[in-house]
Amino acid sequence: MSLDTVDVALPRADASRLADLLAKFAEISESTDGVTRLAYTPLERAAHRMFTDQLSALGLRTWTDAAGNSYAERPGDAGPAPAVGTGSHLDSVPRAGRFDGIAGVAAAMEVARLLVEADVRHAHPIRFVAFAGEEGARFGQACTGSRIAAGLLSSSDLADLRDVHGVSLAEAMRAVGLDPSRVEEARWRADDWAAFVELHIEQGGVLEAQGVPIGIVDLISGSTRFRLDLHGRASHTGGTPMHQRADAMTAAAEITLLAESIATDPRHHGTRATVGRLELEPGSITTIPGEARLYVDIRDVDSDRQRSTATELIHGARAICERRGVGLDIELLGDASPVVLPIWLRRRIAETCTATGTAYRVLPSGASHDSQMINKVVPAGMIFVPSRAGLSHVPEEWTSSADLAAGTDLLARSLLALDHELTTTSSAEGAC
Ligand code: GLV
Ligand code: MN
Ligand code: MN
Repeated sequence: MSLDTVDVALPRADASRLADLLAKFAEISESTDGVTRLAYTPLERAAHRMFTDQLSALGLRTWTDAAGNSYAERPGDAGPAPAVGTGSHLDSVPRAGRFDGIAGVAAAMEVARLLVEADVRHAHPIRFVAFAGEEGARFGQACTGSRIAAGLLSSSDLADLRDVHGVSLAEAMRAVGLDPSRVEEARWRADDWAAFVELHIEQGGVLEAQGVPIGIVDLISGSTRFRLDLHGRASHTGGTPMHQRADAMTAAAEITLLAESIATDPRHHGTRATVGRLELEPGSITTIPGEARLYVDIRDVDSDRQRSTATELIHGARAICERRGVGLDIELLGDASPVVLPIWLRRRIAETCTATGTAYRVLPSGASHDSQMINKVVPAGMIFVPSRAGLSHVPEEWTSSADLAAGTDLLARSLLALDHELTTTSSAEGAC
């Protein structure tokens, strides 16, 4: 591998330029208390425009596909395909930080700038990608743009996914100028892609605690998400004796504690179960809650444990509701399997760390990522950079500019090393 050549030719990522870019994206927000830029909103589209505007100003060809994913491409010397790619997402959860997803897009933009400014040559085209709607925060199911790219979501599915206001994903797409009937056109072809590397913040505290600047991801957790609609009986809080109640809230509380106790049972070691949203009706201090809606998210790197936790919780919820005289409806919102990222690609990133004297550790991801989806079409690797105090999905989410710049340097060198290697060998060689 010609990493020495790569090192000589490629300037270092600029930490303050990365910080400025993240600050600019953070301004595109519905909230001032943290970043709120939900999937398929005009704000998400504005962030995508900033991505394509800046990269087209660098002289790259840019475009947006029917799913709302945005791209920029720097041509390779050996022809139009297959491409080596990098990128992440630009949407956020409500009141998020400025790094989740955006760090990977900003790193991709910085890599593009370094390649252009130093006029670094590469054989494959290098594609920079901003995926649409990665967070499942609005429609429940995560990774919409990358799922569509991977052929895992079709136009016929888009009317069924709805946000809390009842707006379907198809309607949301139309409202921002996308045509949901054409999303099949956004599917990636395996012969068009050689490899993909996503940089992302860790969203956990392992790297910081161990003082290691880089994580290389081996496994990405799966996630099973569902909504439980509990139908109790609303009534007067003073007039209704305790034994005559069908309180949807107390049933919801018992289910929430059951989720915690199943996930902390040694049989489920590694499982994370969360009730992240609870809605009550009518929501009055003097009325027993008649309706409760719980949004449940179960994550695991073990597919069987993920699904058996979900099944156990649903059985338990049915028993709790029956005992309390509360009706129960269950709606599956999303179900993604854990993914093992290709070991050969992980090794190449590790070799790039070694060649550049960068300390790293291999670790699993508890969060979902676009790489989990597109790995179905193109071999994908992931680089993690440290998250301060392990926090994410909150305004306090933070990664130092120096750590992000170090991750960006590794990303750039990994892409060039892959470009070099895939030019001389087949990507499948040594793969397992
Ligand atoms: C995506 O960010 C997730 O919730 O895992
Ligand atoms: Mn993310
Ligand atoms: Mn996220």
